[in-house]
Amino acid sequence: MHPIGFFDSGLGGISVLSQARTYLPREHFLYYGDNKNAPYGPKSLEEIRSLTHASVNFLLQKGIKALVIACNTATSASAALLRQELSIPVIGIEPALKPAHFVRHGGAIVVLATNATLRLEKFHLLMERFGDGVVPVVGEGLVELVEAGLQNSLQADALLRDLLARPLSGQVDAIVLGCTHYSFLTDALHRVAPGIPIFDGAEGTARQLRRVLEQQNLLEDGDGLTEYFSSGGDEFVRRMRKMADMPARSQE
Ligand code: DGL
Repeated sequence: MHPIGFFDSGLGGISVLSQARTYLPREHFLYYGDNKNAPYGPKSLEEIRSLTHASVNFLLQKGIKALVIACNTATSASAALLRQELSIPVIGIEPALKPAHFVRHGGAIVVLATNATLRLEKFHLLMERFGDGVVPVVGEGLVELVEAGLQNSLQADALLRDLLARPLSGQVDAIVLGCTHYSFLTDALHRVAPGIPIFDGAEGTARQLRRVLEQQNLLEDGDGLTEYFSSGGDEFVRRMRKMADMPARSQE
């Protein structure tokens, strides 16, 4: 049995892992969170690349048959390079601008993502195709809240209210979650921006993973187990397990 490796800067990628486990219940998963070095968003391109490579090497040494970069920031910085270097399939994630684009009726499409995701080339290419009405918002401080387990707190609501104050003063047709950590803020976002549809790339990424494994004859009928690893220690591993067993919408 060859496992599928999942990587994120921390806890956010658990939202993608949870979807993948429902689409591929018999696969064996390894999840690695670089919690010690999160957040990646404010770091330089070189730093993000080197941290991503170190984390991916950890998973490669465990014999993974496919890699999911369950982090928009690391995908933007490193997916193209990793695809050149590795012989296994590499699946990344990007903000779900395309489906949001189709529900737009004249208002703004708010894309909430990290500083790095919004400034790197990948996002600019996406904007060329589906950029009409897009208002990018850097989710400054949101990854830290989720890493601290404060996704359902007064602080989370207050920070989101603050970050979204300007776009929410006009018509907003959709909010796109451009960072896997933000899936865990879905309840808070519904409180702050009631009635506005939220687009999350986690499910699409899980479907893409299954498609790629099917195409490359890599599907296996195995134990369905998941192992968790963190650069931040056992407490993060405990929280990963807990978050993976709960839907992203109703955490602790
Ligand atoms: N989950 C990562 C993402 O999707 C968070 C990046 C960070 O650590 O700032 O972008």
